[in-house]
Amino acid sequence: MQGNFSYHNPTKLYFGEDAMNYLIGELKCYGPTVMLSYGGGSIKRNGIYDAVVAALEGAGKTIVEDPGVMPNPTYEKVMEGCHLVRENNVDLILAVGGGSTIDYAKAVSASVYCEEEAWEKYWVKQGSPSCKTVPIGAVLTMVGTGSEMNGGSVITNRKAGFKLGKVFGPNLYPKFTILNPRFTMTVPQYQMVAGFFDIMSHLMEQYFAGTADCTTDYINEGLMRSLIHSTRIAAKNPQDYEARANIMWTATWALNTLLKCGKGGDWEVHQIGHAIGLVTDATHGMTLSSVSLPYYRHVMHDGLHQFVRFAKNVWGVRPEGKSDEQVATEGLKCLEDWMNEIGVVTHSRELGVTEENIPAITDAVLILPVGYRTLTRDEVIDILHQSM
Ligand code: NZQ
Ligand code: ZN
Repeated sequence: MQGNFSYHNPTKLYFGEDAMNYLIGELKCYGPTVMLSYGGGSIKRNGIYDAVVAALEGAGKTIVEDPGVMPNPTYEKVMEGCHLVRENNVDLILAVGGGSTIDYAKAVSASVYCEEEAWEKYWVKQGSPSCKTVPIGAVLTMVGTGSEMNGGSVITNRKAGFKLGKVFGPNLYPKFTILNPRFTMTVPQYQMVAGFFDIMSHLMEQYFAGTADCTTDYINEGLMRSLIHSTRIAAKNPQDYEARANIMWTATWALNTLLKCGKGGDWEVHQIGHAIGLVTDATHGMTLSSVSLPYYRHVMHDGLHQFVRFAKNVWGVRPEGKSDEQVATEGLKCLEDWMNEIGVVTHSRELGVTEENIPAITDAVLILPVGYRTLTRDEVIDILHQSM
């Protein structure tokens, strides 16, 4: 292991089919008024809303309804949420949904008592809250982002022309999260597999960096192998509880800061994906799947040793009689085959990327000086063209 780091994750998890039984006890630890934040209504159709409201009532809470958090949540919606929190003196924000709802809850929590312009302070300048924040709890209904156990909050600001992520410190992680794999069974297939790829992308973004022999990479490889195994089962049979439960658990560990220990990280696929999301409003995981293969083929020679390791340890590629380039290329071919098998988008034109909007997407891409290669603007354009 190289470098210095600390590891602290304060989110308390309740996992499994009985996890909801523990919500009421957690709610009792907070004040009387709870803002119930959720998305476009899936939780009303699948019964999760009723179960949550029963727990809230059982704990004697006053409920402030906050529906309509959209996928790729906007800064405008965050400002509306802040208004509701202030008006009702909310003691806890309970986010029931996927990454969008939980990210939104963190954004509201940090922004509501912020005396500066929150967008500028947190998402542009990457500052930390110096004001009071509101505690958050979560009930996860869609697997992928890892937002249930991290400080990530990705917000779209169309007026500013950016979709940007802010990673808040542990005081803004959910205080507790309910993880019941059954709650994810009603997620439509397209969303489900997009989430599967999001998990793989989080694993790869952290794996493809650095040169040291690092325990974190071995943990990461184990998670990738479990994910590949279980997603093959779940893509064919989404009702397979064991597979869905494994995937849920993998997603949480894929992005709860464990895999960052001793590693730098890349995250350029996410920057390009967020820019595509800004312009097309496409599903997050699909924006990543549409650009990953051209991106990794582009940087493969810069991080060849790690792409060889990926091929051998994750996909079981046999190296005998092959050059490193051949082994690494075979690993990426295995990745491509798995992507086709689970059914994710591999062409960005399917998401609405056109020759005409490539300049706008490119302008919105943050180029990070980390990973194996720092891209130029022309390289971003090239990758986007290849992704179409
Ligand atoms: O809005 P509702 O009606 O709830 O429907 C949602 C939404 O349409 C639906 N859904 C969720 N659970 C369901 C369900 N439908 C039926 N049954 C259920 N049980 O799924 C759709 C997508 O939900 P969303 O929350 O948008 O998906 P996801 O979890 O993929 O979150 C995406 C957002 O998270 C950000 C992304 O950029 C994007 O904005 N990310 C957050 C990260 C973090 N916090 O660390 C990291 C990620 O890389 C990512 O950037
Ligand atoms: Zn992601």
